[in-house]
Amino acid sequence: MMEVNRDVPALEIPFIREMAEITYHMWKFGWDERNGGNISRILEEAEVSPYIDLNGTGRVISLSFPVPELAGKMFVVTGSGKYFRNVIADPGMNLGVIRVTADGEHVDVLWGFSGNTFPTSELASHFMSHIERLKVDPAHRIVMHTHATNVIAMTFVHELDEKKFTKTLWQMCTECIVVFPEGVGVLPWMVPGSAEIGRKTADKMKDGRVVIWPHHGIFGTGSTMDETFGLIETVEKAAQVFMLTAGHSIKQTISDQELSDLAKAFGVIPASGILEA
Ligand code: 13P
Ligand code: ZN
Repeated sequence: MMEVNRDVPALEIPFIREMAEITYHMWKFGWDERNGGNISRILEEAEVSPYIDLNGTGRVISLSFPVPELAGKMFVVTGSGKYFRNVIADPGMNLGVIRVTADGEHVDVLWGFSGNTFPTSELASHFMSHIERLKVDPAHRIVMHTHATNVIAMTFVHELDEKKFTKTLWQMCTECIVVFPEGVGVLPWMVPGSAEIGRKTADKMKDGRVVIWPHHGIFGTGSTMDETFGLIETVEKAAQVFMLTAGHSIKQTISDQELSDLAKAFGVIPASGILEA
């Protein structure tokens, strides 16, 4: 058994450093104003045990949405009401490491969430999305929610039909269909922070890695922080190009045939029912 080294400063724990760096980047992008956005990442015991006592702090938080599927799983999660900008200055106050109890009804706090902080109010969407993504991708680890500016803007001026929304995004930048060939899911507007929006989000995650919450933001999932952030960055870039060109007279675009050729060239299968070529 490796000894727990509690003297390691938080920012030298690799997965804490990673969370601190990505949240700071996201704030700098202007996506995570105030406490906007939240991230959860599945942790392996071998990553945690050198730094954190797996016996926990004694603090237990109950869940209003039982997740027995995640029993025993550990996560690093952003705190509710906490600002992404501040994570790097005080990780222990703005993040926590939690483990789902055997019955799936609570989480044990293993580290962080100091000052009686709680995990994100979107924990239901995170946990339920983890459950669905793990079913289709055993390498899945990360759920990231952010208030990506142009994605939000686009949900005011574009139809919310997810096939049409996906096609427009694909047409905005050549790389899009290669990065998210499965397209994006789009929910109707809903009150955030509930088990209901969690279930609806997770339902969309059965077939894809991106779900858009109109007039609110985006959820992205993936196996690494780079991949997940890169996915959201690509959707946001396409939404930005859409917003820059909306209202201008469009002289040309990427045709359905060209999108099909792209998909073929990069060996990806685009979601069906979107392209006419
Ligand atoms: P939290 O501060 O509880 O994570 O909420 C932020 C948010 O983006 C809600 O959708
Ligand atoms: Zn939000």
